[in-house]
Amino acid sequence: MRLGVLCSIVRTEEKLIFQALRKRGVSFEKIDDRELSFDLHRQDFPWDVVLERAVNHARALHTLKLFNDRGVPTINTWDVANLCGDKVLTSNALVGAKVPTPKTIVAYTPKSALAAIEVMGYPVVLKPAVGSWGRLIARVTDRHAAEALLEHKQILGSYHHSIFYIQEYVEKAGRDIRAFVVGDETICAIYRISDHWITNTARGATTANCPVTDELNAICVAAARAVGGGVLAVDVFETEHGLQVNEVNYTMEFRNSIDVTGVAIHERIVDYTLTVGEAVAATAQ
Ligand SMILES: Nc1ncnc2c1ncn2[C@@H]1O[C@H](COP(=O)(O)OP(=O)(O)O)[C@@H](O)[C@H]1O
Ligand SMILES: [Mg+2]
Repeated sequence: MRLGVLCSIVRTEEKLIFQALRKRGVSFEKIDDRELSFDLHRQDFPWDVVLERAVNHARALHTLKLFNDRGVPTINTWDVANLCGDKVLTSNALVGAKVPTPKTIVAYTPKSALAAIEVMGYPVVLKPAVGSWGRLIARVTDRHAAEALLEHKQILGSYHHSIFYIQEYVEKAGRDIRAFVVGDETICAIYRISDHWITNTARGATTANCPVTDELNAICVAAARAVGGGVLAVDVFETEHGLQVNEVNYTMEFRNSIDVTGVAIHERIVDYTLTVGEAVAATAQ
């Protein structure tokens, strides 16, 4: 099987994946997106499967599209990356699949956004449609703050900030859940615990093992399916109305979750990638 791993800077996650592949004696090619150039007229790529581990969303999206259109399967697919990279599209997919998710409204002008916020009621959360690590998400507690934030976004923000993603604020008692789905299984999950309302580990949240109950597995697998499936990380809130999926991430970081859960996430990703690759290699023969 000809396996490619698409990446740029090699983080702990990629090092672990490479180690897992070497341990099994699987040869692979590291495809560095900083060194790539694509001749769009070329149709043949020398890989049966490509595992995508790039840091840059825009580069990942383009590369996945070029691979998929030329018959190279990727983990994850372009469709999945495209959906998960955009919170509007992710929420839309979750609602479409009837996966419980917080109430969310999209608006395009400060005026219509403010009107929607006032109807939703404070506090609300504003997020850039494209973003991660908790960056530039804001909890808005009153009309004055909403007006100021919308004006700042409109005048100082890039194009992405003119898409106003407005969500109800969910009380989550100091923690949320990050669950890891590989194929049809939630392989493990962590609590992300913080005094701050933003619970990304990149923002200093601490972690603890979260048991994968049937309920958690079901909602996470449903969320993963809703966006197209693969190797995904699902953010889940525990609310008074039960579990709700906040978002789904497509090239997840997981270094902080291996020791806490006792699950070798990198090994599971490699298992899944090899299963997909072997199936492709078998049909090609
Ligand atoms: N609607 C919300 N209510 C309460 N907390 C939220 C809400 N949305 C996001 N958060 C908090 O902010 C964190 C980051 O938001 P998220 O939507 O996951 O964006 P990112 O892609 O930056 O991780 C979440 O993990 C959660 O702790
Ligand atoms: Mg998140």
